[in-house]
Amino acid sequence: MRTVRTISELRAALRTPRTNGRTVALVPTMGYLHEGHLSLIRAAREAADLAVVSLFVNPTQFNDPNDLAAYPRDEQRDALLAQEAGADLLFAPQPDEVYPRGFTTQVRVTGPLTEALEGAHRGADHFHGVTTVVSKLLNMVGPDVALFGQKDAQQALVIRRMATDLDLPTRIEVVPTVREPDGLAMSSRNVRLSGTEREQALALHAALHTAERHVHGGDHDAASILQAARDAMTPFAVEPEYLALVDPEDLSPVTTVDQDALLAVAAHVGPVRLIDNTILTPNGGTAR
Ligand code: PAF
Repeated sequence: MRTVRTISELRAALRTPRTNGRTVALVPTMGYLHEGHLSLIRAAREAADLAVVSLFVNPTQFNDPNDLAAYPRDEQRDALLAQEAGADLLFAPQPDEVYPRGFTTQVRVTGPLTEALEGAHRGADHFHGVTTVVSKLLNMVGPDVALFGQKDAQQALVIRRMATDLDLPTRIEVVPTVREPDGLAMSSRNVRLSGTEREQALALHAALHTAERHVHGGDHDAASILQAARDAMTPFAVEPEYLALVDPEDLSPVTTVDQDALLAVAAHVGPVRLIDNTILTPNGGTAR
């Protein structure tokens, strides 16, 4: 695996494989890779001949400067893990390669997709930062397919919307969330949790799991499912920032789970803001 830092090096590295008809997959990341990223890289290898991993902590999507400053970074470790998972090329640009002097363009998905859930709490600007950088990365790499994790369910929806609306030729694939054995969704931010906070962090999975059990037990009433999920967080002394049951396509609130519904949760645990979600399936299907 080679590491490249500039757009021209990246394009030069992809020129010959492309001419030879090889397909390219992109896994955009902000680094500090964990098993969730590695499953995306493995899926990328399945989906295309070449897997490109981008590593860029994108400043424009952080609403909190402290969160940006505290975001864990370790490029050497990331390079090793990416290579082991089968990446062919690591694209690790400096901020001024992505946002050179004079940069003033934004790519924005507007409306409920960016204003609901995360948008309501972090601000829609978070997603505007994501879509701006992802559209740039897609233009830099020109992949046949790009892969994103289901843990950031809203981000995946927003990116799909952008790709459709802008007629981007890249296929967007969403890969299931990878969890620790006790259910905690893998996240680069988990390393910032202390021992006690790591236990408290299980509140999110407990809420999702309780809701799944309710639905499988025949409860389809959103208010009652949400109450049970909220109650499941109480023993962990964690308050959800939001806990919402919404349509998995347009994020509109759901009152009855008579078809697939997205249950999404966000909560602060110690210094870290965590998110998680599951799809509730009313007819005994397996929840993701
Ligand atoms: O999910 C992430 O890590 C980031 O939002 C992404 C897609 C790499 C854009 O910076």
